[in-house]
Amino acid sequence: MFNYDEAFAAAIEQVKLEKRYRIFTKLKYVTGKAPIAYASNIQKEITVWCSNDYLGMSQNPLVIEACIDAVRSMGVGAGGTRNISGTHEPISQLEEELASLHNKEAALVFTSGYVANQASLGTIAKIIPDCVVFSDEDNHASIIHGIRESRLNKHIFRHNDMEHLEELLMKYDYATPKLIVSESIYSMTGSTVPMARLRQLAEEHNALTYVDEVHSVGMYGEGGSGIASLLDENIDIIQGTLAKAYGVIGGYIAASKHIVDAIRSLASSFIFTTSLPPSIAAAALASVRYLRQSNIERQKLHANVKLVKDGLRRIGAPLVENDTHIVPLLICDPEKARNIQQSLLYDHSIYVQAINYPTVPKGRERLRITPTPMHTKEMIEALIEAVDKCYIHYNG
Ligand SMILES: Cc1ncc(COP(=O)(O)O)c(C=O)c1O
Repeated sequence: MFNYDEAFAAAIEQVKLEKRYRIFTKLKYVTGKAPIAYASNIQKEITVWCSNDYLGMSQNPLVIEACIDAVRSMGVGAGGTRNISGTHEPISQLEEELASLHNKEAALVFTSGYVANQASLGTIAKIIPDCVVFSDEDNHASIIHGIRESRLNKHIFRHNDMEHLEELLMKYDYATPKLIVSESIYSMTGSTVPMARLRQLAEEHNALTYVDEVHSVGMYGEGGSGIASLLDENIDIIQGTLAKAYGVIGGYIAASKHIVDAIRSLASSFIFTTSLPPSIAAAALASVRYLRQSNIERQKLHANVKLVKDGLRRIGAPLVENDTHIVPLLICDPEKARNIQQSLLYDHSIYVQAINYPTVPKGRERLRITPTPMHTKEMIEALIEAVDKCYIHYNG
């Protein structure tokens, strides 16, 4: 007889054998104290260096007030899907704000950035059944999920390799519908797409462009409008999240009226799920509006990123060089990465998450450091000193 429990236990054993069994660090934040948090596993306060709340907006007083006000006046839950239960006013306002931020005709909000990618890309086949997709090999799991779901004919080009992309595009005649999918900033290396060349190729080969700006919205470009806007490149579909620089939750696309309306009308994981609660939409709206007029957080963040990178270079840490706020240290061994993480946490009260397969390929394990505007000079010095000790220790 088949033993179900044994099958699940064996799967866990396999993950442990590959040194990629994940133990969550349980955190309790206190508003206004980030990046300090209380880690209940080890019962002490730690400094967090791996949050994607890049600008600390989850603890911004205006965002908190907007959320509380909306809960008080509109309740907690959304009450259903937008199709059968209506659209809460803050969601429509948020969509108008996002369309305006990206200088697009329309925007559509989803329950997460993951769902925005999966739903939008998965729906393209219903709209353009003979479309051929060209996707960067390092694209996020949600992009891969959407493209797989679409079952469209696809080609994967080498990471950021525009020559390879061109080679693949040239296999098709001009009239064939094509979609090029990329991220603007890759979260595990911090590399940026050569967007001008990508746009040029799209134009030469009559392709639609889709760029995931999850790690750049709120962070780069005027008022946080992202890399495409910073470089003045007209990308057809911009996808973003409200969960990282904006510090809340939810995802979106911004594009032409027709693109947004078609995806709204056909995407299952938009249609058949309860929408974001009005309080969350109100909080996200406050955050987007705030970051459209405040630069202090971005300036402070980039100053801290420079200090952290300079410090890591000084001690000879295996820093992956890039021009962004993401600070990866390449360790290339799952056990070593986990040991350094544990030592930083237990011996130095510093939390930097080790990143392993499947988030990165096997053998490319790393520590991913994300400075914020709230980290102080003392915290930065403590980080560099601790990394120096732990890295040397585990490299013999
Ligand atoms: C490139 C990229 N796209 C999409 C997502 C998903 O966004 P969300 O966390 O809002 O679901 C992530 C999440 O880390 C990401 O890194």
